Amino acid sequence: MQKTILSGTTATGQLHLGNYLGALKPWVDMSNKMNDAVSLFFVADLHGITVPHNKDKLAAITRESAAAYIASGLDINKVILFAQSSVYQHPYLHWMLGSIAQMGQLKRMTQYKEKSNKVKDGASLNLFSYPVLQAADILMYKSTHVPVGEDQKQHVEFARDVAGGFNHLYGDVFPLPEPVIQAEGARIMSLRDGTSKMSKSAESDMSRINLVDDADMIAQKFRKAKSDSDALPTSDAECAGRPEAKNLMTIYSILSDVPMTEVYNQFGGKMFSELKSSLSDLAVEKMAPITAEMNRLLAHPDEIDKILKNGAERASEIAAPVLEEVKDKMGFISL
Ligand code: TYM
Repeated sequence: MQKTILSGTTATGQLHLGNYLGALKPWVDMSNKMNDAVSLFFVADLHGITVPHNKDKLAAITRESAAAYIASGLDINKVILFAQSSVYQHPYLHWMLGSIAQMGQLKRMTQYKEKSNKVKDGASLNLFSYPVLQAADILMYKSTHVPVGEDQKQHVEFARDVAGGFNHLYGDVFPLPEPVIQAEGARIMSLRDGTSKMSKSAESDMSRINLVDDADMIAQKFRKAKSDSDALPTSDAECAGRPEAKNLMTIYSILSDVPMTEVYNQFGGKMFSELKSSLSDLAVEKMAPITAEMNRLLAHPDEIDKILKNGAERASEIAAPVLEEVKDKMGFISL
């Protein structure tokens, strides 16, 4: 069976270290490793309008996200990179799959509950059907592997259920997509509160390291990161009740590419300040080339647009016959 890798980020703000460690870095590793797979990565700008958005910033966020993908190491000669809004089959398939998606299941989605709770009756219809559009993104290319962070697992499982439901009703069309989640780094936490995840939409910019932050900003954010007064833990067991220590040590482990046991050996028993200072040096060393490459790309927005346009054309070539197959299976008139 053809292997297809697909993933994306929502265009709601600047990408951060959590997105990089939980998604972008694994995307690069996976698309390099799985040579026989088709790889598609996109900016989910249609998902970006499920909450109130700033129309003057949407295009810039989309370009910046694409630049982050490329700067993180995605090879545009190997992968298909596009903006979701330029491939018209996505919202079309969303409608088709909407006839299968169960409202009861959609109401139970964690992200919907969290986001709609904040705005009560102000939640948009699009926020509710967000996972159906995500299912369309995934199934549009008959994707088999969907690398995501922990928080998106539920949405990929929903897409799997929708695929199963479609196949059951109309005959086998879709492979059942698998969420692919990292053992470490799938849930990087806020620098201000180790119990909530690092997020684009969190109010405090100090809670996250943005991929465009410069060295001074990175150092300042790690210096001010929440800590406690005890010496650093020496094992997973000692991390219990100490989410901030665990989070910073996890970030150190992934960025330095050494296992947690070694990080415990190196920093266990030492003061938080020592870890923070090594971590900011390490983060600057690893992130600075990415930030520099993003800035270089962003100085030529036309080039980014060209890449996205070409990617949209290639994506549409795959998407168009899949949509025709879906319409045919569902009994639509074919002219
Ligand atoms: P988004 O934009 O919230 O996040 C993009 C990717 O980054 C991961 N992620 C994290 N990983 C580790 N620690 C964190 N703190 C952290 N925050 C975010 C997310 O799990 C995700 O992998 N709905 C998706 C976008 C999307 C999509 C898709 C993804 C639309 N269609 C189809 C896969 C397949 C989203 O909002 O991701």
